[in-house]
Amino acid sequence: MAKKNQKIENESDLMDKVISLAKRRGFIFPGSEIYGGLQNSWDYGPLGVELKNNIKKLWWKMFVQERADMVGIDAALIMNPKVWEASGHLGNFSDPLVECEECHERFRCDDPYSPEATRETGAHWLKHHPKIAVGSFKIEEHFTKPKQFNLMLKTFLGPAEEKANEVYFRPETAQAIFVDFKQILETSRQRIPFGVAQIGKAFRNEITPGNFIFRTREFEQMEIEYFIKPEDWKKQFEHWLGEMKRWIKAVGIDESRVKENEIGEEDRAFYSKRTIDFEFEYPFGQKELYGLAYRGDYDLGQHQKFSGENLEYKDPISNEKFLPHVIEPSLGVDRTVLAVLLSCYSESDARSGKEDAVHEKEVTLRLPKAIAPIKVAILPLSKKEELTKPAEEILRTLNKNWMCQYDETQSIGKRYRRQDEIGTPYCVTVDFDSLKDNAVTVRDRDTMAQERIEIKELENYLTKKLK
Ligand code: GAP
Repeated sequence: MAKKNQKIENESDLMDKVISLAKRRGFIFPGSEIYGGLQNSWDYGPLGVELKNNIKKLWWKMFVQERADMVGIDAALIMNPKVWEASGHLGNFSDPLVECEECHERFRCDDPYSPEATRETGAHWLKHHPKIAVGSFKIEEHFTKPKQFNLMLKTFLGPAEEKANEVYFRPETAQAIFVDFKQILETSRQRIPFGVAQIGKAFRNEITPGNFIFRTREFEQMEIEYFIKPEDWKKQFEHWLGEMKRWIKAVGIDESRVKENEIGEEDRAFYSKRTIDFEFEYPFGQKELYGLAYRGDYDLGQHQKFSGENLEYKDPISNEKFLPHVIEPSLGVDRTVLAVLLSCYSESDARSGKEDAVHEKEVTLRLPKAIAPIKVAILPLSKKEELTKPAEEILRTLNKNWMCQYDETQSIGKRYRRQDEIGTPYCVTVDFDSLKDNAVTVRDRDTMAQERIEIKELENYLTKKLK
């Protein structure tokens, strides 16, 4: 029997353990590392790209493939700058920052007198300018007043770096859905209510990126704009609230660590009648994971005004013309990866038996099967050709269906542990009995139960198990 999973008592330990596992096993490592890295940029390695792709595939399957009322797009990262004028990003997409007058380091700071802000600026002062006594530290004397800093990431199209060629990397995927609304409507024959989904990169010149992949300047989003009749907004909002909860469960995020934060009127965008932030209890605090917002017809209205194009929808039955309203479920891919890793990481005392029962903890990544980077590991018990040959043949059959790993080095216990650590749901062991009974042992990651399965039945067996 598997020993009961032990909760990691110390939350900052959990963060360190997840970051270390991610680096050690090739999920996520620092970007440009041989050149000393680049502030808070992270690269997804061989296992990370599988995990991330599987998360995106699952989302697309649940919200595009399995729904007749949804279609997808994949728009350009760089759009006409007028888009950002219309959306309000050029005017308003900014965070307040304060700057240390001594060394010019900048901090994001909504309220300079809040305990959170004073803690950060105070800690900075102590570390970098310790000559001033702590007691006399006053934020208003040592830091500038908060000023607004625009988060749009600028570049130039074409060889001349001049104003006319200035463009921006998109700060969200959402706007392209509004900008393409007319063409989507004309080509997809969708009728309201219907939605458009997009997965892709977004860029923000964040003042304080950090906490691993939680806040970076380049990240991925999965966003939906669901177009509705204005009078249906309450019903549709509830529907998407339910869908987001369904997603959180399906992707393996620990629901007990997720809190819904109903955003009050004073903090909502002026055009939104209701916004809920889904927050996750990260080891560094309870912070945003996803957002769900009712945005009215603000975006289509703005693009209609700025582009001069009529973006109204004509109801095919009543012939009524109106600007659709939208419900927007907005999800970060990287925050999903982080919340999933934190939720699925587990440790236990040596599960794999006597031979490897060293005094260290064994790690199991209890990922949902659908998102596990490697679905099946094929492990010949010995490196002798009589076992490696049939094992390689099994690999060639199974890797037509699933990402598989073949591993013939070290003891079988160590190999099971290597697979548990990366969340592989099934290990297939080829042993000397296999030569006689044409069967293999299949081990389940979570229960550690082992079943003897005929090789000719293996593909069917795993198809059922991995469904
Ligand atoms: N279209 C609405 C929108 O973009 P947002 O709350 O600014 O809303 C949506 O972003 C989601 O994108 C967030 O809930 C988060 O998951 C993710 N996200 C935003 N900024 C991010 C950053 N700098 N790094 C990583 N993920 C980020």
